[in-house]
Amino acid sequence: MSVVNIKIEGISYQVEAGLTILEAAKACGYEIPSLCAFNHGECNSGSCRVCLVEATGARGLVASCVYPVAEGMEIRISAPAAVEARRRSVELLLSNHNKNCQQCSKNGNCELLHVANLTGARDNAFEGIHSEVFIDQLAPALVRDTSKCILCGRCIARCSNAHGLGILGFENRGFNTIVSPAENRSFADSPCIQCGQCVNVCPTGALMEKSEIGKIDEAFRAGKHVIVQAAPAVRASLGEEFGYPIGTPVTGKMAAALRRLGFERVYDVNFGADLTIMEEGTELLGRLTNGGVLPMITSCSPGWINYAEYNYADLIPHLSSCKSPHQMQGAVIKSYWAQEHGIAPEDIFVVSVMPCVAKKFEKEREQEKVNGIPDVDAVITTRELARMIRRSGIIFDRLPDEDWDQDIMGDYSGAGVIFGVTGGVMEAALRTVYFKLTGKEKDQITFEEVRGHDAGIREASIDIDGTVVNVAIASGMRSAKVLLDEIREGKSKYQFIEIMGCPGGCINGGGQSYVRPALLPNEADDILDTYKEKRAQALYSEDERQVIRQSHNNPQINELYEKYLGEPNSHKAHELLHTSYAGRVGFNEV
Ligand code: FES
Repeated sequence: MSVVNIKIEGISYQVEAGLTILEAAKACGYEIPSLCAFNHGECNSGSCRVCLVEATGARGLVASCVYPVAEGMEIRISAPAAVEARRRSVELLLSNHNKNCQQCSKNGNCELLHVANLTGARDNAFEGIHSEVFIDQLAPALVRDTSKCILCGRCIARCSNAHGLGILGFENRGFNTIVSPAENRSFADSPCIQCGQCVNVCPTGALMEKSEIGKIDEAFRAGKHVIVQAAPAVRASLGEEFGYPIGTPVTGKMAAALRRLGFERVYDVNFGADLTIMEEGTELLGRLTNGGVLPMITSCSPGWINYAEYNYADLIPHLSSCKSPHQMQGAVIKSYWAQEHGIAPEDIFVVSVMPCVAKKFEKEREQEKVNGIPDVDAVITTRELARMIRRSGIIFDRLPDEDWDQDIMGDYSGAGVIFGVTGGVMEAALRTVYFKLTGKEKDQITFEEVRGHDAGIREASIDIDGTVVNVAIASGMRSAKVLLDEIREGKSKYQFIEIMGCPGGCINGGGQSYVRPALLPNEADDILDTYKEKRAQALYSEDERQVIRQSHNNPQINELYEKYLGEPNSHKAHELLHTSYAGRVGFNEV
């Protein structure tokens, strides 16, 4: 690594050559306010001007997020002109910003408020006219509010980097500039996959998930049997909302919190994940042995399903017909569970806690309903659950570790837990497919070759007693597109493909806790590089702690088949647990 000698505030440092002043200053322990610069240059539009500093060799002040360090450079963050300019930049942003902070869901995580504090931008120095406000809330999962947008461009960069999609872009000119889908259409009229990655990087409340907390309040008021189920990835992130280090698993405290919030039953979606493996594994074996359409592609990520329906409708026969785990579990709650407890399905209100924003859309799909009744009535994100816990007055870290409710669907396997990380569905399925093909359990239970936590493609050839299954895994649509194009061109060598909408899988879902280095002073500087690995490890460690680690060994799953469903892929199972897809051009065409 080549280095350069610089001075910051008159103090000498050696830093890596090629860094920007902002990065170099951070490496030396200084915080220069910044907004549009994000994640190692993922977004570097240089547009917000809140990072201005004085540097020798430059004419005037420079934007530290784009200006590189040079040998002998002397940097003054504290130069009066720089301090003044940074404050003015923030005041200019605030002059056209909706300041209803007390009602903004980003309150507590707002980076604009953070830099306003840092720069001392307190007065309404530039109070003047405001640009026209546009609030898009027609889509099922996302809300876009131009009155809170600071035009940093982070959402535009994320949509492109994660998915190769350009759903969001700058529209209009000058004071009328906004960030929106093409021609200022609603998300609902665009091929947005509703993954929520743009929400994850938005520094303000301009992009948010559509909250469904109010629906839950209403269900309680109406006296419904309100049942909650939480997805595996939520336990790897919820603790972050309450000050735990990133990747701390909080399964027991989450169950305890949900119980105290008043839910009549508290279940883990891992049961539904085990059920998915029984159905999907059987479907795969059927296709392998009966000449079905291959490669078969997993279907539990609704962001990915949206992408497929918009862009690869010709490949729909490759998709597994299985519903996603929370939809399957919701369908079982409103049928088998309802029957066992003598409760009418109409009186049950199922809430899913998800790391995912697109699940809010998924539960609305007509194809998911059974006899016109939705499997799931409300979906809240990890962040929304944290809001519910905070408003209730519960002190999260004082909660005991409690277990999920055990009746009928309380058991789950380690295979169900790892659904939350890219490669997890594949590994869970392989554990069961191995058993089904050989009649015995694999000595080494894990399939390390399919593990990982980043976007990109992983592939492996799995030899199951002489039967070789070629598999591939992709997360983020940019990677998925490569595999899909191979299928379209007749060049795919795989039998089974796992695709997840968000890069890294559900642990990095659009509904997870925000990872904002500026707002996480106790996390290491490299947290943006390591958080996915840390959250993945939280799930792998829970898998290791489980006594049962294969879905087919979950006794309550086997009981469900014996008493109610018959066998995997039976007529009854298809009625409740499978769905269909169709090509479309916008949410309104569903
Ligand atoms: Fe440098 Fe925005 S952070 S210009």
